Formats: sequence, structure tokens, C-alpha cells
Amino acid sequence: MNPVELIIKKREKNKLDKSEIHFFVTEYLNENISEYQMSAMLMAILLNGMDFDETFWLTAEYLASGKQAIFKNKNGKFIDKHSTGGVGDKISIILAPIAAECGISVPMISGRGLGHTGGTLDKLESIPDLQIDISLKKFQEIVLKNRFAIISQSKEIVPADKRIYALRDVTGTIKSISLITASILSKKIASGIEGLVVDLKVGKGAFIPEMKTAKKLAESLISVGNKFGKKVKVLFTNMDSPLGMCVGNSLEIIESIEFLKGNFQEDLKEVTFALLSEMLIMAGIVITKIEAENMIMKTIKSGAALKRFAKFIELQNGNQDVIYDYSIFGKSKYSKNIIAEKSGFISTINSREIGWALIDINAGRRIITNKIDYTAGLKLFKKVGDKIAKNEVLAELFFNKDNGEIVAERIKKTFQISNEIVEKKTRILECY
Ligand code: URA
Repeated sequence: MNPVELIIKKREKNKLDKSEIHFFVTEYLNENISEYQMSAMLMAILLNGMDFDETFWLTAEYLASGKQAIFKNKNGKFIDKHSTGGVGDKISIILAPIAAECGISVPMISGRGLGHTGGTLDKLESIPDLQIDISLKKFQEIVLKNRFAIISQSKEIVPADKRIYALRDVTGTIKSISLITASILSKKIASGIEGLVVDLKVGKGAFIPEMKTAKKLAESLISVGNKFGKKVKVLFTNMDSPLGMCVGNSLEIIESIEFLKGNFQEDLKEVTFALLSEMLIMAGIVITKIEAENMIMKTIKSGAALKRFAKFIELQNGNQDVIYDYSIFGKSKYSKNIIAEKSGFISTINSREIGWALIDINAGRRIITNKIDYTAGLKLFKKVGDKIAKNEVLAELFFNKDNGEIVAERIKKTFQISNEIVEKKTRILECY
């Protein structure tokens, strides 16, 4: 087969068959198809789409590129959660230890930052010495010991997603239903789960801003997931404005630790508890959402979820002292307050714009080899619906680069202030 012919075939809106998808993925991994050819194919898929068969074959191909975790005696309790990507979305880090404490095993294979969104793995790597690139054998051992582990794709585990995910991040080829489906489900199936709860982000800061397309993605995730024998539940959540109060790698870990200590931001709590409730119901541990919420709250109030998070850091070789000493994360050289120019009510905080602006101070990547500045980020002091006075501080930007002033100006423009009262809305939009 000739890769150029296959790129042209997809460019001309034709269906690829199973052997062609196999060829393209395996030869890319064998270095016989170049990065630019894969980039062209990804763009053709993004523009022209794939049908159910192609999406299923692509997912199977990603999965077959590596090994799969095997756990015995699962009893329906190996459940994971995955987000389609957001800004300030640190839910995986908070949710996994709580779920584990409630009796769910969470073998989590996560991703790095993608486009304007942050990634769980980059956030976790802001914890000194924490390892996320570990062997499948060690991953399984840690899950059995502590009921959860969070690791990255690797040469051994979904290598196809590891390479293609990083390439999509820098080639504008994220927003494709088929590519997102294959990327998410291959990681999740490889991790040995029985069921998956998807946090499908919709709105300004999501890859899929509009509900109509989001529903198509949900249908794709559910139908392909079911064909692999996995239960899939989808929650649509609003991603117009950042989730919680912090955006940026170490800032988000600190916010996650605070959450596990019982200091919640309302929107973060709402989405985290809703996803956890679905996981607990799927695992058959509780029947109602009220029961789930009581159970979740107990694990936080008792300190048990925080303890389990500390154990996770220890098992993945990180420095557990970060839990009580945030100075270990280090601090950016500079910070700048972003000030309101008028009084009123916050009507918009555009999370997509914030995500892109933060990449300019190295909180995310422009090219695959970029090094992340873990201390760079934004602390919000006001949320949508909050009242604000003229000259009050809206947010604080942390940075080490010399373009911080320009980025702060860009971020200021993401806030819109209305003279009218703005209603605070629920983040949960719909459930599938
Ligand atoms: N999360 C993933 O793992 N992959 C995507 O393509 C998008 C979100």
C-alpha cells in the first residue's frame, strides 16, 4: 500500500477499510510513514469524518498497538472516568482517590495537555519525582495495592495514542469525533476497565462547543465502547468558563489537594460529585445519588481520600510532602493582578481564550518538544455571576517569561462585566 494513495482516498471522502487503517497506524509506528503524512491523514479524517466501522477499526488498531492490563475477579467494580478536555479541569486527580476509597478500582491511563486544554499527566508531573511513565506490570501492582493509579500511554501501553495524541495537539486535528473516540476508548480499554463515565465538555472552552456535535460524539463513544463490551455513560457538562479557581499545572494540583481536604469550589464539587455518583451507581455500590453523595462526603471528611492520594504519590515515587507543604512546587518569578475596569456582574470568562493565553507563558505546549513551566498559571478570584467592584482584582497571573504583561492584557479581555445581575447556572447539562 502507498500512504499517499490512502491520504488521497480519505481526502476524497472515501471509506478506508480495516487493512488500510491497520497499515497506516502500524507503519506510522514502525517509522515507515512520516509525521507529515500522518498529519495529512489526520486532517483528512478531521475534515471528512469516519463512519462507525472505520472508528471501531481505528480504536481496535490503537488498542492492538500495545498490551492490555489484566485484572482477575473484577466484579463490575473496575470503572474509570474520562474527560474530553477542559480548562481548569482537575477532576481526575480529585475523583480517582475518592472513587478508590468508595470501593471502585480506577486503573487510569490519562493524557497530556491537548490544544488549549490542560492534561492530567502534565499536572501530576508538577509533583516532584512523580512517575507517570511506568510499566504495565507496575501499574497493575499499584492498582491492586491502592485501588488506583494514573499513568501515561507508553511504548508498551497504547503507543499509537501516545504518538498520535501528541501530533494532534500541535496540528489542529483534535476536534474529530472518530479521533477522539479512538483516543479515549483505546486508553480506557487497555487499562482493563469494565465501565466508563465520560465527562463530555460542551461550550466555549470545549473541543466540541455545540451540543448537536457533542451528542454525536456521545453516540460514537457509547456505540464503539459497547461493541468492545464496555458500559459507557456520558454526562454533558458546561465548559464555557474555567472549572474551579485555578488554571495551570501546579496550581491545579494545589486546588485538588485543597478539595480533598474539604475546601471545595462549588462548580468543581458539582461536576466531581455527579461523575462519582454515576461511577458508584454503575459499579452497583449504591442505588441513589443521595447515597453516593453521602459516601463521597464521608471519604473527604474523614481524610481517607486525601490519605489515599498521598499513598498514590508514594507508590508512583513522588514527593508526598507536597500535601502539607505547597512551597515544594516552587513559585513563579513574577505575578500580576488583573483588575476590573468597571463594576457590575461577571457574565463571561472565556475559557478557550484563557487556555491559549496560558500557552504563551509555557503552561502548555506549542510544539511537541516544548518544556512546560509548571508554576505558570492563573488564579481566579471571581466566577461567572459574581459581583465585582471597579478596581477589584479579578484574577492573578503567575509567570516566568517576559511576555506576562501582554498575556495579562489578553486574559483581562476574556472577562465580560454586565450591568445586569447574572444568574449562576448549573454545570451539568444532560445525561446520556
Ligand atoms: N481526551 C483524549 O484522551 N483524547 C482526545 O482525543 C480528547 C480528549
